Amino acid sequence: MTSLPSLKLPTIALYLVQFLCLAAVPVNGNGGRHHSSRSYKCPAVVAGWFTYDFHTSDPTSIQWNQFSNDSCLPFERYPCDGSGYPAFVVNATEVEHVRRAVKFAGKNDVRLVVKGTGHDFIGRSIAPNSLSIWTHYMKDIEYHKGSFRPRGCRSSIKGNAVTAGAGVQMIDLHDYLDPYGETVVGGGAKSVGVGGYITGGGHSMLSTRNGLAVDQVLEMEVVTPDGDHITANECRNEDIFWAMRGGGGSTFGVLTSVTLRVIPSPKMLHMIFMLGTTSTAPNITDIQALFLSKVPSLSDSGLAGYVWLAKEMVNPAGPDPGPPLLGGIFGMLTLQDTDDEKDMLNLMEPIVEEAAQRFPDSNVTFGPVIEKYGSFQDWYSVYHDNGAAGSSQWLGSRLFGEDTLTGDAGELAARLDRLEDLTGQLMVYMVSGKGVFEAEPRGGGTAVSPAWRTSYVHNTIGEQFAPRNASDDARSREALEAALEVLEEMAPDTGAYVNEAYKYQHDWQQTFWGENYERLLAIKRDVDPKDVFWCHPCVGNERWEEVEGRLCRV
Ligand SMILES: Cc1cc2nc3c(=O)[nH]c(=O)nc-3n(C[C@H](O)[C@H](O)[C@H](O)COP(=O)(O)OP(=O)(O)OC[C@H]3O[C@@H](n4cnc5c(N)ncnc54)[C@H](O)[C@@H]3O)c2cc1C
Ligand SMILES: *[C@@H]1O[C@H](CO)[C@@H](O)[C@H](O)[C@H]1NC(C)=O
Ligand SMILES: *[C@@H]1O[C@H](CO)[C@@H](O)[C@H](O)[C@H]1NC(C)=O
Ligand SMILES: *[C@@H]1O[C@H](CO)[C@@H](O)[C@H](O)[C@H]1NC(C)=O
Ligand SMILES: *[C@@H]1O[C@H](CO)[C@@H](O)[C@H](O)[C@H]1NC(C)=O
Ligand SMILES: *[C@@H]1O[C@H](CO)[C@@H](O)[C@H](O)[C@H]1NC(C)=O
Repeated sequence: MTSLPSLKLPTIALYLVQFLCLAAVPVNGNGGRHHSSRSYKCPAVVAGWFTYDFHTSDPTSIQWNQFSNDSCLPFERYPCDGSGYPAFVVNATEVEHVRRAVKFAGKNDVRLVVKGTGHDFIGRSIAPNSLSIWTHYMKDIEYHKGSFRPRGCRSSIKGNAVTAGAGVQMIDLHDYLDPYGETVVGGGAKSVGVGGYITGGGHSMLSTRNGLAVDQVLEMEVVTPDGDHITANECRNEDIFWAMRGGGGSTFGVLTSVTLRVIPSPKMLHMIFMLGTTSTAPNITDIQALFLSKVPSLSDSGLAGYVWLAKEMVNPAGPDPGPPLLGGIFGMLTLQDTDDEKDMLNLMEPIVEEAAQRFPDSNVTFGPVIEKYGSFQDWYSVYHDNGAAGSSQWLGSRLFGEDTLTGDAGELAARLDRLEDLTGQLMVYMVSGKGVFEAEPRGGGTAVSPAWRTSYVHNTIGEQFAPRNASDDARSREALEAALEVLEEMAPDTGAYVNEAYKYQHDWQQTFWGENYERLLAIKRDVDPKDVFWCHPCVGNERWEEVEGRLCRV
């Protein structure tokens, strides 16, 4: 096999590398707690800052700098006063710890947050002067063989299932289930936690066939804003069960455990490809539009994957022999339960031929590298998302249905052109399709944006900025907002995926939840009349606003 670089999801390390090199000597801080013993702690903090695991295993630290208001970056020239971090953390290992923390916050009007891993792209797992419930050590996993009977239900749900505590991360589940020859619909990074992932919706390489993570949920245990510990499923507390499958984290209560359907671990056929040309060739966005027009049929045929669209990207095979800069589509695709390369090539080659015919002046090439993996876990151990944490970046999201992808190709190409001028690239997650459209979630529905049920792809854009630099922050938001506008023009009637979206998304209630918002709001008012849980952008947060780190009545 040629060794193409293992692929990294959105995080772009370029800026960071510079940053790291500038930081000659580490001086400050560690995730907000003040240590007098800096001399031995700091090198480890600096070394860990760009890894997901460092922030996951720290009680207060989060993956993206700006959400702590850059108030304790461990690099020279940056002050560390910890003002952006919680004041106290409950290291919860039992449901009782969660209950007492929630009750305390409710009774004393203390700002409350929940931190699982701190991966959140919209900053919901941290707040200044707050009490934080840290669920990391709630790591219990239990297997249910053959069937699972939700509490209060008369009959059992057939099939194997697994119950995961709130602190369980993706890799814990995959490791646990691998010996059974099974897996779950889980996220791309080993370190993402079930708490935020599932309450936001949860997409996966396996969703195209099996539905979203919320579609796998059989039962949830929840500590409500009153501090009660309840079971929510299709027979009990149905409203909370519905709302917490997609209505967002830290809004309706604290998930203490979740029971999920497990699925047989598939064989994975994996392809990395570059469908494109040199960055100076004509018709690059036309080639991209052609590829996008094929996505619905590729998805219907079982292909899933992550692809990157850019007019200019570094040649993944290196500058020699090819040109250093390419334009087009770079990506990784998977096909399950086959190890026949032809199954994959037969889907892709007609597209390459069509592109070569339609754009003869563009010298279109296709560099597929195909690998075979015997199980999901074998594949995941190589192709999990191992990007970098510790940067400052804003994300944006938009879901695309078939009409956007297969509509007027010229118009699509022109919009891709504008978009890529603004943010450089578009990341297209081919993680929806049949499995999501035809899912039969328990209780008849979930709270995720209805747009998921008709969209083939979830797209993200991202824009990094320099920490503690207000003008660079403003520049990045401006570029991101302009690009989001283009995405919204492309798909005016869909929505966005809350977990990988823009914190300051306009019209966020409608964008993240569509027609589900009204019911979500009613449930929020019912279970949390005192707004014990507050975050932004989160259901029902309209009665308060954040002013210099404090919550004030609107
Ligand atoms: C590297 C990376 C890869 C990703 N890959 C995927 C992917 O493949 N698919 C996908 O769908 N998403 C993906 N995401 C997005 C991910 O789903 C969100 O970042 C999600 O919010 C992470 O949840 P968490 O619990 O790990 O993080 P946290 O930041 O700890 O929590 C996120 C939100 O959930 C709340 N929360 C956490 N635990 C609980 C709980 N027990 N009860 C109630 N609320 C809780 C928090 O308060 C916060 O509001 C990825 C993110 C990153 C950074
Ligand atoms: C949190 O609790 C766990 C389990 O009891 C313990 O191992 C860990 O050291 C605690 N962490 C901190 C920072 O107190
Ligand atoms: C290729 O690009 C040129 C210049 O933008 C454009 O005029 C032409 O229509 C494109 N060709 C196709 C087949 O789209
Ligand atoms: C077309 O692309 C191939 C592969 O990158 C390259 O070897 C060849 O020189 C290119 N031809 C032209 C005319 O650009
Ligand atoms: C802030 O970022 C801008 C680019 O947006 C840059 O020109 C400027 O030098 C930066 N300021 C500092 C203090 O680094
Ligand atoms: C963030 O930090 C800046 C100082 O760098 C301060 O002026 C500002 O008030 C802080 N914001 C919040 C919300 O605390």
